[in-house]
Amino acid sequence: MAREAIKVLVLHGPNLNLTGFREPDLYGKKPLEDIDADIKAAAERLGVEVRILQSNHEGVLIDTIQEHRKWADAIVINPGALTHYSIALRDACVSVRMPIVEVHLSNVHAREDFRRHSVIAPVSVGQVVGFGGYGYVLALEAIVNLQTEVL
Ligand code: DQA
Repeated sequence: MAREAIKVLVLHGPNLNLTGFREPDLYGKKPLEDIDADIKAAAERLGVEVRILQSNHEGVLIDTIQEHRKWADAIVINPGALTHYSIALRDACVSVRMPIVEVHLSNVHAREDFRRHSVIAPVSVGQVVGFGGYGYVLALEAIVNLQTEVL
């Protein structure tokens, strides 16, 4: 019997709706819609089902994570600035008991000190940082590899 498609929830946090416009030297010139189109194309190629949401609101991100606890097999999240301080978002990630991959468009380790600290990283399988929107594609590939090799 064919294996069911892996289901991945992809979340973009605060200000990522302005990707392409906001600080393009750091975050790239590609608008979020184009990044999302690349994610969908990669998902199709990998046989992964994706749902994608961007929100500027911590509570909406947390609600969405909770609502997908039965649907999703894994979560790819770029929490934006919430990365650095949101214990509530971290607790939501832990609560749903599934692999979390943290993505950042920029190389957060090569920037201000406060961006080097992530409250999400310790509850993630791993981070993909510094590859712009392509980081989400790498994260999807990592999840597929995890599901076939480890889980
Ligand atoms: C970011 C890095 C964060 O420090 C910042 O607050 C963002 C974007 C990134 O994708 O590089 O909003 O998550």
